[in-house]
Formats: sequence, structure tokens, C-alpha cells
Amino acid sequence: MQVPFVDLSKTHKALEEELKQTFQQVLQASYFIYGPQVTAFEKQFSETLNTPYTLAVGNCTDALHAVLKMLNIKADDEVLVPALSRMTDAEVVSELGAKPIFVDVNEMGLMDVEIVENYITQKTKAIIPVHLYGQMVEMGELMLIAKKHGLFVIEDCAQAHLAKQSNQFAGTFGDAAVFSFSPTKNLGALGDAGAIVTSDKALYTACRKYVNHGASDKHSHEFPGANSRIDSLQAAILSLKLPYLTEWNEQRRQAANYYNNHFSKQLEIQLPKVGEKNEHVFNVYQIQTPQRTELKKFLKGEGIQTQVHYPKALPFTKAYSSLKHTAIDFPRAYRYQEQTLSIPLFPGISEAQQAHVVQCVNEYFS
Ligand SMILES: Cc1ncc(COP(=O)(O)O)c(C=O)c1O
Repeated sequence: MQVPFVDLSKTHKALEEELKQTFQQVLQASYFIYGPQVTAFEKQFSETLNTPYTLAVGNCTDALHAVLKMLNIKADDEVLVPALSRMTDAEVVSELGAKPIFVDVNEMGLMDVEIVENYITQKTKAIIPVHLYGQMVEMGELMLIAKKHGLFVIEDCAQAHLAKQSNQFAGTFGDAAVFSFSPTKNLGALGDAGAIVTSDKALYTACRKYVNHGASDKHSHEFPGANSRIDSLQAAILSLKLPYLTEWNEQRRQAANYYNNHFSKQLEIQLPKVGEKNEHVFNVYQIQTPQRTELKKFLKGEGIQTQVHYPKALPFTKAYSSLKHTAIDFPRAYRYQEQTLSIPLFPGISEAQQAHVVQCVNEYFS
């Protein structure tokens, strides 16, 4: 049996007719950039999260760039980022000439809030908690620390659409949040797309201008900005999909429960831990084992696709090799790098597919 890591065709098949209609409507309107579909999606996303402002942009990396730039993060500033994440957060900080300061992760693979204060200096301007895999960094504690030191908090929600902590949505705790809608995200477009969410009107307005060449309309450029736009088609597709997101997240949780229950007696692997106050949305389901590489190879032979999130923690990538970090600096991120394996999980994964994964993992260890 073949088990793909992600199978987007499951959800798209069910929406085929509505997707065709959406394509048709956008084609007929022929308003491909900044069309009314964009404003409609921004409003719908804000209403869903119960937050005042959403600005849809080209992708999450652009979204973070705009926010940090408009918060005036600049050369010599320091910004705390998790040692384990996608490259985006550290990269954007570096691109602005500022310095990413890596913070090790906890046993859930999330920025370890308990050690954050050790890294704060006179130069620290902001913290970027990444709600990795689909569950949230401890935000109550982090916001207190940020307030105490006068720091901005920008939440990276690329993997955490509608995740909650103490019943509050990811993206509604900090000064701003950034989302990715790339295809395999919990809410995914049919290409690249992203968004900024904030309750700060001045920041929202500044970011809106920034992504439009520093202008509030087509030609009134107030400062040099950038160009980051979401297509009307992608916005329309996101609007179509958003009402299904809660149900898809529930399907992800159920699939995660299936693995949890069926792996519970499997002593050779560590299952994902979920924070007490967290409602996880499982963009990624990852297990840990010292035999990761061998297990991955075995599963491939059995038709099961897996991935590694992430094969190198950021301080150990070539991009940051000049910092000369070693495993001792970030022991938990290093452990994730060496031992984590992400296994198939997506809305619509069948019980037979999950049973095959469980059976093959058990077979490997026996
Ligand atoms: C945690 C995280 N942050 C940021 C990004 C960047 O998103 P985008 O590709 O939309 O720029 C991703 C995408 O994979 C991600 O997983």
C-alpha cells in the first residue's frame, strides 16, 4: 500500500465543483490582482480569528519581512528566534541586518519560554515565537516577559491555523502574527500566499503601504517598500476553504489520536507531547527515535513517505556556521535534528493507510 506524506487530492476532490466555479468567477471578473476577493478574504479571516486587521500578501516570509521592517527592526538589533524552525524567521531578521539570537526548544520542539530571559540584552527588540507543528508556544508567560522588557512579539502561525491556547486563537496574543497559506498548510492555497494579522491599526496601515511599494494607492509612494501581492484567485480559494478548516483540523486531531493510541505500546519511539493548555492542529505529526534514518528507509521500502522537520536545526546550518554553535548550545534542538521523523497525516487519510504505517513501524522495531 502507498501512503503519501500529504495527499491534497482528498480535500480538493470533495470541493471540485466549488473550485471550478471559483476559477470561473475569477476568470469572468478578470480582476486578477487586488480584486474584491482579496478584501473579502481579509474580512473573513479577521472575523474567524476575531481580530481587527488582516493583510493578505504573497507569502509568510514577505509578511514577516513587512512586519519587522515596519517595526523598525534594523542593523545591530537582536531578535530572539527558536533554534528549531523553518529558515524564514532567522533569515528575515538577518536580511534586515539584525541578529537572530537562537533560543533552544523544549520537549515539544517549541521555543523554551523558561530560558528566554537568559538571551535578552540591551539590543533585544523583538521575539518571534513559532507555533511549530501545530501547537502554540507558552504565550501567557512569553507576553509577560516581553512586556517587562518592552519587546515586540510577532507570532509565526504558518503551521498553526486555528490552533488555540486557553481557548484563544494563535495569532491573537502578540503585536502581530504571520500566516502561510502555501498548499500543505492547514489552510492552503493552490500556490503561495500569506497574511499579516494584527490589532495595531498603525502597524497594519504601514504594512499595507510597505507591500505596495510604500504607497497607499498606485502612485503615491511615501517610502521605498516592496511588492508582495496575493492573487485574487488564491484569495477566492482561501475564502472557499476557510469554512472547512475547523472540520479539517478535527480530522487531523483524530488521525493523531489514532497514531497515539496505536503506538502507545511501542516503547522505541517517543510520541508528540501536547501542552496542557493547547489545542493542537497537527500540521505535522512527528515521532522521535534514535533509529530515525533506518526507520525512514524501511518505511520508504514499504511505500510510506516520511519527512524530517528539520534535518538541521538553524544554528547548525551552513547559513549560520560562522556563529560556530555546537550541539551543547542547543541540546534539545540537536536531539530533534537527529531523531525526529514526520509521518503521514492529512485530512482524509484512511484508517487503512494509518494501520499500514503503524504495522510497518511495529514490524521495524520487532
Ligand atoms: C514555521 C514556518 N514559518 C514560515 C514559513 C514560510 O512560509 P512561506 O513559504 O509562505 O513564506 C513556513 C513555511 O513552510 C513555516 O513552516
